[in-house]
Amino acid sequence: MGPMQETPLPVLVHVCVTCRREGDDPEAPRQGSRLRDALVGLLPDGMTLQPVECLGNCKRSCTVALSAQGSWTYVFGDLTAESGPDVVTGARLLAHSTDGLMPWRGRPEPFKRSMIARIPPIQPLKDAAE
Ligand code: FES
Repeated sequence: MGPMQETPLPVLVHVCVTCRREGDDPEAPRQGSRLRDALVGLLPDGMTLQPVECLGNCKRSCTVALSAQGSWTYVFGDLTAESGPDVVTGARLLAHSTDGLMPWRGRPEPFKRSMIARIPPIQPLKDAAE
């Protein structure tokens, strides 16, 4: 593992609350909304939970996007209402990144299989530190 970020980056966790999974009961609360509810009690201090309606990944829902100032933004799909602990693990990895990238090692399995995109930062962490 590379050097750890001493002060964790404040990670912003966007959760699509309108995501549902194929076969879900249309009358039941949406899985994305249930995932958001689960994260309310799981996210550590310093991280922000931001519900959002659609991240453009509806076919592979549920979807979250993890970002921080200077870091890459990671979009993950194929999640469920039960993915809260995996989202927290991924967010912690990003929070401790020194280069703005989420390390592969330590990622929960769904985050290895179901990365939809990683989007470059507007101003990379390394430049910001110079
Ligand atoms: S409804 Fe969740 S990504 Fe579109």
